[in-house]
Amino acid sequence: MSDEELLRPRDHFAPARGWLNDPNGLVLHDGEHHLFFQHNPDSLVHGPISWGHAVSPDLVRWTELPTALAATATEHVWSGSVVHDVANTSGLGADGAGPLVALYTRFEPGTGRQSQCLAHSLDRGRTWERYSGNPVLDIGSSAFRDPKVLRHDDGWLMVVVLAEARTVELYRSPDLIAWEHWSSFGPEGSVEGLWECPDLVRVPVEDGQDGRTAWVLLVSVSDGAPAGGSGMQYVVGELGEGGFASTQPARWVDHGADFYAAISYSDVPGPEPVVQAWMSNWQYADRVPATVFRGSMTLARRLALRPRDGELRLVQHPVVRAGEAAYALTEHALAGTLELPVAARSYRVVAEVDPGTARAFGLHLRVGRDERTTLRVEQDPRTVTLDRRRSGTVEVHPAFAAAHTAPLPDYGRAVRLEVVVDVASVEVFAGGGEVVLTDQVFPSPSSTGLAVFAEDGEAHVRRLTVLV
Ligand code: FRU
Repeated sequence: MSDEELLRPRDHFAPARGWLNDPNGLVLHDGEHHLFFQHNPDSLVHGPISWGHAVSPDLVRWTELPTALAATATEHVWSGSVVHDVANTSGLGADGAGPLVALYTRFEPGTGRQSQCLAHSLDRGRTWERYSGNPVLDIGSSAFRDPKVLRHDDGWLMVVVLAEARTVELYRSPDLIAWEHWSSFGPEGSVEGLWECPDLVRVPVEDGQDGRTAWVLLVSVSDGAPAGGSGMQYVVGELGEGGFASTQPARWVDHGADFYAAISYSDVPGPEPVVQAWMSNWQYADRVPATVFRGSMTLARRLALRPRDGELRLVQHPVVRAGEAAYALTEHALAGTLELPVAARSYRVVAEVDPGTARAFGLHLRVGRDERTTLRVEQDPRTVTLDRRRSGTVEVHPAFAAAHTAPLPDYGRAVRLEVVVDVASVEVFAGGGEVVLTDQVFPSPSSTGLAVFAEDGEAHVRRLTVLV
């Protein structure tokens, strides 16, 4: 492995070279998942942004393709979405086939002005033509961006932010070209940072009642998230005649520091929407260790809602490689620390642990001589903490060397955990996906140890499997 490749994840998408931020234009089309992304290929920091492009059959194995929409001197190609215009409502199709249509934000570097533009592709996203009548939506603003388009009734719905006003604006169109303002949502929930990258998804409730769903508005907030800096909130609500309205308070999607700008894949067979995020934080994104590339996406995640305390809570399940079991433990009484015979930089741990009399239990991940990232489940009160203070290179930013904690709802004896470690990141799904923490970590390549522990008492490991 060359030094340049030491930071490259195995199952997470990262570009061959250059800077990456938000995922864009996520769509499943003709058997391919398309991941476009904010890309500055010639630099390790943000700048003149193009849409990079990658495809995957399974959301795990990615192939990067040439740039889809390149920045020009007058147009940086900021975030947006892609839909398959099957019925050719736009009239941009050919030979009876509907085009792929991208709606993105034109950022004018000279003026800072932001407007919504359209491009279409007739060859499975390989080449794109910008619309001659661009921009298709311009209100003369310099904080109006990130259009996400979805099918609605007989036409199309766009959610887009007024970033500084902290609102999500809803527009409607019969043809993806002419957009009419419909309604507005917000400010609501966290308003400390700018609002960015909205999405509106229909999410199934996992209570067994056939077909019950609710609308969920996702919005990224550039500052003030619980782990510091940028993060994402979700709002459960209703989409009615008057637009979107919340039915419960806004909550955070991920309690780690590195989950931002997630949007959903268009045209994924339901009922669960699939989202993917940029795995970083605007607070330090341009300072994390990098070689030839900087930035990666999180794993894709399926979303559901779980009734809890009279509300609906977001539940997330990662889309993972199948993997092979490298180690398994069943019905094990655990006191103290058990080092597992696994040496790896990328793996997944699936466990079900009854805390028993232990005050806390957890995992030490990417353990080296002076390094470890610790996942700890405390009993009283019940919390999950992902601690990267000793994870390796932490001198990125004062806020990086931190432990992130989230409350874990009480749901019986055993705690279900799924933890994905992939070279430079840890994603934790606790309580059957109800409490999620995502953090970048930069351990040395030789820190490959893995251990499970119980403190001040005995925990009962019902099962624990390590998959590589
Ligand atoms: C979110 C964001 C978007 C914008 C893009 C620019 O991370 O700030 O609002 O379109 O990044 O790269």
